[in-house]
Amino acid sequence: MPQRGDARYDMLAGGRHTCGGSCWARPFVESLGPVMPSRESGEKKAVEDYRIMVLGGDGVGPEVTAEAARALRVVAKRFGHTFRFEEALVGQDAIAQEGAAISPKTLERCARCDAILFGAVGGTTMGSPESKTQPENSLYQLRRDFVLFANLRPIRVFPALAGASTLKRDVVRGVDFVVIRELTGGLYYGRPSETRGESPARQAVDTMAYSEAEIERVVRFAFELARARNKSLTSVDKANVLSCSRLWRDVAERVGRDYPDVHLQHLLVDNCAMNLVKRPKDFDVLVMANMFGDILTDEASMLSGSMGMLPSASLGERVTAHGRFGLYEPVHGSAPRIAGQGKANPLAAILSAALLLRHSLSLAEEALAVERAVERVIAAGYRTYDIQTANTRLVNTSEMGEQVERALLESDSPAGSRRAGKKAPAGTAR
Ligand code: IPM
Ligand code: MN
Repeated sequence: MPQRGDARYDMLAGGRHTCGGSCWARPFVESLGPVMPSRESGEKKAVEDYRIMVLGGDGVGPEVTAEAARALRVVAKRFGHTFRFEEALVGQDAIAQEGAAISPKTLERCARCDAILFGAVGGTTMGSPESKTQPENSLYQLRRDFVLFANLRPIRVFPALAGASTLKRDVVRGVDFVVIRELTGGLYYGRPSETRGESPARQAVDTMAYSEAEIERVVRFAFELARARNKSLTSVDKANVLSCSRLWRDVAERVGRDYPDVHLQHLLVDNCAMNLVKRPKDFDVLVMANMFGDILTDEASMLSGSMGMLPSASLGERVTAHGRFGLYEPVHGSAPRIAGQGKANPLAAILSAALLLRHSLSLAEEALAVERAVERVIAAGYRTYDIQTANTRLVNTSEMGEQVERALLESDSPAGSRRAGKKAPAGTAR
């Protein structure tokens, strides 16, 4: 029998609940097989020195990353790690002070880190993604320069939050799937992308382009994830209209022959949008092109009650001494209308920090501790205003961060948590 702590056990745990189905917090992706960096089991340097770049950005970005960094500091203290945090400007402040949404120097500093904890950018301006003076350009550039082609967006509904969704409780209870959005190709990067001519006869063009290789690497990533979970993969496209999608479907079929144990189904994107709200529990892993993933994950976030609950990890092939280099950000964006008011929900950022621990620092136990702490805080009734329902306790951004800190500190000691792992955390709703 595989034992807790060995790779085989962790892989199994990644596909199943580790505490009898009553526990929300379990690894999203414990093992990604060959797409994950290989690491000798048990290999650990005497003193690990982890480097994390914090890019707070615009709007509520700095408020929520501050709480995510706080959770990471508590983890460092509790588990005896040294996390070195760096900070730099991105977005509007970077444009004002450094002349670009992200400066070459910041990009260089990011390259020397193990992971990036990202807040949000944008919110006030709009224009060509090409322009260096668009705050969003920092994100496009980070994604492209570090070839972060696989964007993981896990959608899981906390038992205690099933009533916070605008959808019926029975529809959302138990939802647990992961969207893998292709992140470095498609409509976001295709050329040409421009507006031509003079008003009122202007024309605009954007280009959707995918190579077989671009499709294959992200689809393969999805198959690996599906294999480590419930062996069911939904590939989303618009093959009845788009050439890109016909190629996508063809490549998915071909790659699928290497994964006979994974059930592959194709779904048209419009039909997928409908089924995400009709029968969301039927999904396990979904993979789709950049623009489709952008749209469908906003839709899917509402299953979990709020955009403020949805974390993300953007991963590529780059591997550091500690794990897979990645960028971690809440999906909710800069939310300029509530910025500076303490209203933002920091849980998406904190859950993104958990993904950072798991994927970029290979600290699976620490990641789970953060996810469990969030679960306990929710189960204890603390709510930011976006997820508030009757008989719950309204808290602001930093108070929510404090509660997570407290829950992390109160959790079992790192050694003890292994033994306690089987039972559900106190206060967990069934
Ligand atoms: C996201 C965001 C970004 C995107 C914006 C800010 C450019 O909406 O990460 O989903 O469209 O990719
Ligand atoms: Mn989006």
